[in-house]
Amino acid sequence: MEKIFRNTWVWVAHDSEFPDKGSFKLSQVGFEPVIVVRDRKGRIHCMVNRCRHRAATICEVKKGKSSSFQCPYHGWGYGLDDSLRALPYPEQYGDDFDKARHGLQKLRTESYNGMVFATFREDIEPLEDFLGEGVRKYIDLFMKQGGGFPVKVLGEHQFSVPMNWKVRACR
Ligand code: FES
Repeated sequence: MEKIFRNTWVWVAHDSEFPDKGSFKLSQVGFEPVIVVRDRKGRIHCMVNRCRHRAATICEVKKGKSSSFQCPYHGWGYGLDDSLRALPYPEQYGDDFDKARHGLQKLRTESYNGMVFATFREDIEPLEDFLGEGVRKYIDLFMKQGGGFPVKVLGEHQFSVPMNWKVRACR
C-alpha cells in the first residue's frame, strides 16, 4: 500500500457522484481516507479526512452536500478547499498560531473524461500521460455507453477482500 498506492494515481470518484457545488463523497487512496469535494467555483479537491489538530475523522457521512467541514472532536472548521477557517477559542493556540499552515493535507487531483484521480505525489506525470492512449481509449468507449446521455453512478457495491496489488484493497 505504501510503495504503490501512495506513489501513483488512484481513482477516487466519478463526476456524477458530486455534481453540485459543495457536494462531496468519501473515498480512499491506499489506506488513507479522503474527501473528494467540489468547491464553490466548481473546482475538485481531494484531501485527507483527518483533522490537523488531533487526527480525528472530520467527515463520517459517505456522501452529501456541505458548505464546510467541521471536526466533531474540538470543532476546527475547514473550507471546501482544505483551508482551516475557524477555531473555537483561538486565543488558546497562542499568538503565533498560523491557520494557513494547518489546512487539511491535500492530494494532487486531475480528471479524465469524468473519472477523478488523486495522488500524494506532486512530482508524478500528468494523469493523461499516466493513463496513456491505451487506457484512455477504453475510458472513452465506456463513457459512450450512455448513447448520448452522460454516464451516471447510481449506486455501488463495496467488498473487502484480501488481495495483492492487482486489485484496489480496502480495510
Ligand atoms: S481533533 Fe479535530 S478539532 Fe481536535
